[in-house]
Amino acid sequence: AKDKNGFPKGFLWGGAIAANQTEGAYLEDGKGLTTVDLLPTGEKRFPIMLGDLPSYQPLEGEFYPSHEAIDFYHRYKEDIALFAEMGFQSLRLSISWARIFPNGDDAEPNEAGLQFYDNLFDELQKHGIEPVVTLAHFDVPVHLVEAYGSWKNRKLIGFFEKYAKTVFTRYKDKVKYWLTFNEINMLLHLPYVGAGLVFKEGEDEQQVKYQAAHHQLVASALAVKAGHEIIPDAQIGCMLAAGMTYAYSSNPNDVWDAMEKDRESFFFIDVQSRGEYPSYAERFFQDNGITIDMEEGDTEILKNHTVDYIGFSYYSSRLTSTDPKVQENTTSGNVFGSISNPYLEKSEWGWTIDPKGFRITANQLYDRYQKPLFVVENGLGAVDELDSDGQVSDDYRIEYLRAHMKEMREAVNDGVDIIGYTSWGPIDIVSASTGEMKKRYGYIYVDRDNEGKGSFNRRKKKSFDWYKQVIESNGENL
Ligand code: BG6
Repeated sequence: AKDKNGFPKGFLWGGAIAANQTEGAYLEDGKGLTTVDLLPTGEKRFPIMLGDLPSYQPLEGEFYPSHEAIDFYHRYKEDIALFAEMGFQSLRLSISWARIFPNGDDAEPNEAGLQFYDNLFDELQKHGIEPVVTLAHFDVPVHLVEAYGSWKNRKLIGFFEKYAKTVFTRYKDKVKYWLTFNEINMLLHLPYVGAGLVFKEGEDEQQVKYQAAHHQLVASALAVKAGHEIIPDAQIGCMLAAGMTYAYSSNPNDVWDAMEKDRESFFFIDVQSRGEYPSYAERFFQDNGITIDMEEGDTEILKNHTVDYIGFSYYSSRLTSTDPKVQENTTSGNVFGSISNPYLEKSEWGWTIDPKGFRITANQLYDRYQKPLFVVENGLGAVDELDSDGQVSDDYRIEYLRAHMKEMREAVNDGVDIIGYTSWGPIDIVSASTGEMKKRYGYIYVDRDNEGKGSFNRRKKKSFDWYKQVIESNGENL
């Protein structure tokens, strides 16, 4: 039943994290190196993320934040207890592929890696927290990049399928909610992050990206198939980096451009949710000289194994214009560049703050797919300072979240079927884009800085108690 001031009964409130941004212990208990383990802070980071600078080993003199991250690997019990204290009903996390298959193509899985997630899921169960598990959150075992060219290579489909089947079988009694690829559309923007792609001199990048995308889409569908076979009540979703693109003006050229930009992202979800390449893709491929190498049976796999729900992250809307003068005024925003919106404020990292855009985006996604939505990321990255008595008064974070939750409630009242909300980084974690610790999202402060100094101690921020009462009241007291 729906309550106008609240959320549907059973709505899954919680938080979302990813293995590489939290666990640390990057080579412990047999884990192999993953792509994210090769992302240093500093100036080499972006060229590597773009696939322009190959890197297969950590380099001397560089700092790699994922290697220790926030030491969740050793502190998960303490952290989960804090999540439970806030009343979390769900925790979204990812399995690190290289903990299970250190090289990606190993014959047998790594038992110690499997055991770690068993312990983690047991701990969640103890506190009545439902795990929502992402199979691939920006990580590929490095061996697969070196030996096979990562997702450029069709062989990755088989390796991924084997990994997916292994974890579905192992955790079938512990995990019901799954997501295949985190922010699958990110592949187009940060190809190394999204798919482990490293470009060779003279390679047609668009061609390579869309071929890799095809492999991921088939792999995702095969994971859905396996998940449904192995776990009868499984709910398997896709995951989109969402945020509607607005047209800067009423000039139809701007409107068309905005539509095309949205389609660039929807492309992935259209395949994962509707089960086939969208009609507009044909022309796009033609105009850009892209040919997708498909194998017999691919179309059928995509058609028969669509996702159960649409997971998405929302941080901001985007804005586009075809006017070169207007285009000069850009701002950053979860890697998707955007024109600065004159009506809206920005975060300290230049990400546009647009709560209403959340409602619009949720409606847009529901209109398009008519499947349950799961908000699996949303939040504000900000600098937090400890005041003289060691407290963090993060009213700005509360304000951001409150405004977004209000709009989410509006979306629910608009008739959008939203099944849960996991805010990003409920405990401070390493930033995916910049590798900073300084960019904090948490209700829980972690004593760790950009240079890797600090005790790793946890302390509650002001937002901790606020979120607690939000959950307690099922979103009535925002
Ligand atoms: C999403 C990712 O892109 O945004 C997360 O799925 C990421 O991994 C989050 O951390 C916030 O981005 P950032 O760069 O502020 O960490």
